[in-house]
Amino acid sequence: ILDDPESVAEFAARRIAHVIAVAASRGRAGAIGVATGSSPLGTYRHLADLAAAGQLDLAHVSAFALDEYVGLPYDHPESYHAVIARTVTEPLGLDPALVHVPDGAATDPQAACARYEELIRGAGGIDIQLLGIGANGHIGFNEPTSSLTSRTRIKTLAQRTREDNARFFDSPDQVPIHCITQGLGTIADAGQALLVATGGSKAAAVAAMVEGPVTSMCPASVLQMHPHATVVVDDEAASRLT
Ligand code: F6R
Repeated sequence: ILDDPESVAEFAARRIAHVIAVAASRGRAGAIGVATGSSPLGTYRHLADLAAAGQLDLAHVSAFALDEYVGLPYDHPESYHAVIARTVTEPLGLDPALVHVPDGAATDPQAACARYEELIRGAGGIDIQLLGIGANGHIGFNEPTSSLTSRTRIKTLAQRTREDNARFFDSPDQVPIHCITQGLGTIADAGQALLVATGGSKAAAVAAMVEGPVTSMCPASVLQMHPHATVVVDDEAASRLT
């Protein structure tokens, strides 16, 4: 629990930089799992600063996004292809060929899900997965009732998630109904899980994730079973922890 969002972002960036440095010391480039949404933006800014200061070499690091809307063209400004390019690939100076996002525009989205699992496996897995949490306890787009062992698949977005994400679109009905998301089992395979949450709107979800039962009704609670999960929150997001 840290004082403010800035401290949360700095802590998360330093943790990711450390994991990449450890991978490099073992002769591996490393792979980071990246999230979209507001929560990780500060972390990306700090990572870009570390890279600019020469404290972090991301030249050969690969990245895997958690999720993508189904049906948006790649160049739609709110497709996660475009969002990841804008907020991660470009500012961090990643090699675009090493940055992967599920293919929500594929003619066969089911096959795209299987291909994504293959891509992650082929890269040797994800060293550290950065996560935000939805107000309903989702991670990735694994909405409540998601199987705790699920793999990358097509999901229907919860009404609450569509409402929360309407701020990125001109009108709420433009928010896609379906998505492709890494499953909870896929996320759990990452070497480390690093969840960041700030602000009072996340307090109930954070409390349910950390102190509630492990249940598919709070998908983030699956992190309780992860051998190396870190939850980094500011005072407001921690306000409902006992
Ligand atoms: C984004 C994602 C979602 C978000 C969550 C929180 O790729 O997978 O789980 O992390 O909806 O969103 P923000 O950070 O915008 O509150």
